Amino acid sequence: MPRLHLVELEDLPWFPAPVRDAGTGYLQFMIHAGDAYAPAIPLLAQAVRRSGATRLVDLCSGGGGPWRRLKGELAAAGLDLPILLTDKFPNPGAADAIHGNRAMDGVTFHPTPVDARHVPATIGGFRTMFTAFHHFRMLLAPFIVLLLMPWVRPFRLSNLLVTYLIPLVPLMILWDGIVSALRTYDVRELQSLVDAVKGGERFHWDLGELPAKGPIPITYLIGTPRT
Ligand SMILES: C[S@@+](CC[C@H](N)C(=O)[O-])C[C@H]1O[C@@H](n2cnc3c(N)ncnc32)[C@H](O)[C@@H]1O
Repeated sequence: MPRLHLVELEDLPWFPAPVRDAGTGYLQFMIHAGDAYAPAIPLLAQAVRRSGATRLVDLCSGGGGPWRRLKGELAAAGLDLPILLTDKFPNPGAADAIHGNRAMDGVTFHPTPVDARHVPATIGGFRTMFTAFHHFRMLLAPFIVLLLMPWVRPFRLSNLLVTYLIPLVPLMILWDGIVSALRTYDVRELQSLVDAVKGGERFHWDLGELPAKGPIPITYLIGTPRT
């Protein structure tokens, strides 16, 4: 089936921030609970070392994505670098929770919007993006949101209001999950993107699929400048 580039609700500028933040908070919770990206640590560590970077800059960070686990896992692999989280629609509640968590020392959330398509030159570092976590059984997803939202941190009353009183978050997770699955690039499509990058020969590219903890593999694309 060809890729379909439909619109995800969380990407719409007018989408209400409390609903977006509850949704990305829920994603962060699920990724953390499943330690979804642990299998990517060796590849990530190798690429960061190869690049010589002294800071990681995560794009499209949402509620923090996998970093509550990856930070310690990367440190255990010998890479204890500062990490800057960024998003086009920064989530202040998630930022406060990260800045107040001692286990997240060295992780900061950029307070102003950063568009992944136009990252300012002043924000230097090895760039990461974790966005493809949308493949659990979609039709069950709204019920899982209803079940788990009270445990999503930081706890906010608005999370409960937009989940139980007006069930916008379960609907958003269902819609964005389906759309994300349709938008996800497979390895062949990523290769075509890489082939079309101007000056791409100046980078070392590594792309493929890694077995994940769940049934869906992790698709990765890593580019590091050739020295
Ligand atoms: C599916 S969430 C992923 C969040 C996080 N990476 C994770 O793994 O949980 C996608 C995030 O991308 C952000 N986003 C969408 N378009 C963006 C853009 N052009 N630049 C930066 N962030 C963007 C959204 O605000 C949202 O927080």
